[in-house]
Amino acid sequence: MKNIIVGLLGFGNVGSGFAAILKENMNQITNTLGCSIIIKKVLVRNLAKYKNAPIPEELFTTNADEIITDPEIDIVVELIGGIRPAYDYIKKALEHHKHVVTANKAVIALYGRELFDLADKSCVSIKFEGSVGGGIPIIATLTKSLAANKIEEIVGIINGTTNYILTRMEESGMNFEDALSEAQAKGFAEANPTSDIEGEDAAYKLAILTHVAFGVEVSPGEIPYIGIRQISEKEIAYAKQLGYKIKLLATVRRNNGSLDIHVHPTLVPFEHPLASVNYENNALYIKGSAVGELMLYGKGAGSLPTGSAVISDVMEAAGIIQNRIQTKNSFASRYQFTPKAISSGASAYYIRLQVTDQPGVLGSITTAFGRNGVSLESVVQRGRGGSSVPLIFVTHETPWDKLEAALEEIKKLNSVEEVASILMVHKQSQ
Ligand SMILES: NC(=O)c1ccc[n+]([C@@H]2O[C@H](COP(=O)([O-])OP(=O)(O)OC[C@H]3O[C@@H](n4cnc5c(N)ncnc54)[C@H](OP(=O)(O)O)[C@@H]3O)[C@@H](O)[C@H]2O)c1
Repeated sequence: MKNIIVGLLGFGNVGSGFAAILKENMNQITNTLGCSIIIKKVLVRNLAKYKNAPIPEELFTTNADEIITDPEIDIVVELIGGIRPAYDYIKKALEHHKHVVTANKAVIALYGRELFDLADKSCVSIKFEGSVGGGIPIIATLTKSLAANKIEEIVGIINGTTNYILTRMEESGMNFEDALSEAQAKGFAEANPTSDIEGEDAAYKLAILTHVAFGVEVSPGEIPYIGIRQISEKEIAYAKQLGYKIKLLATVRRNNGSLDIHVHPTLVPFEHPLASVNYENNALYIKGSAVGELMLYGKGAGSLPTGSAVISDVMEAAGIIQNRIQTKNSFASRYQFTPKAISSGASAYYIRLQVTDQPGVLGSITTAFGRNGVSLESVVQRGRGGSSVPLIFVTHETPWDKLEAALEEIKKLNSVEEVASILMVHKQSQ
């Protein structure tokens, strides 16, 4: 069988991890495929940086066309990151009938539909396992193992930085800033962590999952997302007393023909499997119509875990080349699902109010909730006796607009000093 020739765009964390796994497990890969995978060229910006790289110096180039237009190259592996020029290179590679493998969440979240269609037109494949959940095989699970299921729901912890910070705040009582500094020192948070902390990174990944699992194209900007910057150690302690951990959850679920979708800090009951996903680990909890519930857990980033996802995609593409069979890349045509609406949907909520401790305050607040159709599951009062005390309410499932109306009314009560916190509460779907 003909060997498979790969051109690599980028030799950073993931690119070098990919090359290391290829070298280390060469025999296993060759025996599995019946042919070898050979890296022919590697694109970087700064050649001097790669003088002592673990692959021959002459493989490196700064000219992308030496890879993208080389007729001998079968698969282009894009690992440079960012939107441009990564998107242009992927597009050009597909136009040149190269199979493409990428771990680039931004390009797939923003341009997935166009690139999948282009790949179909060019009769090649585009694979992107590494773009969500690092080493966790979520895309393969959805597209292959669960291909005949109707996916009902995906709830994920898909950002390692925020999960590390929340775990450290919970176990040590440290504040957000200290936990963030520790995450940065240990390499679990970037120097500029804004996209992770604000929930944007998770929204990009959720956009990809929604496309793959439901065939619905949602731009990351359309997904309501809230990050964890405002979560205090006090909130984590209150949640713990009530039997919950706070996790940044990315959720997409069917709801009577609509899609509920959001990224939100959420109270997860201790007994739920997602509550035990700690530190930088990621997990995806999936509900399929036939398979029922399952959870995938593992490292959501890193050189070797993400390299592992990339190489599995390359092997998959190699199999397609060798056998010349090709399934469609487009997801939209696969599921033929047009949601009636895409919104953040209904949720149970945890509300902490800071109130003046005086008679009648609880009654006027519960009346305001009731008047606006928000039903309460529990009320907890902490630290009686001070002038200002926290009052915590957990609601039953309620649409956001009803809760918002109730809170507008509640804010106007003289005894209410502030609405200190609004978090979602994860309820097991039926
Ligand atoms: N790191 C992770 O754990 C992880 C996890 C999941 C997904 N990903 C995704 O994987 C991709 C790669 O991430 P990474 O962490 O490996 O990045 P990285 O360490 O920053 O490496 C980027 C590589 O691409 C090269 N490069 C960047 N821009 C280029 C350009 N315009 N032209 C030519 N070469 C260019 C760089 O070369 P120079 O050194 O010469 O600049 C470097 O070799 C990204 O899409 C990222 O989101 C990463």
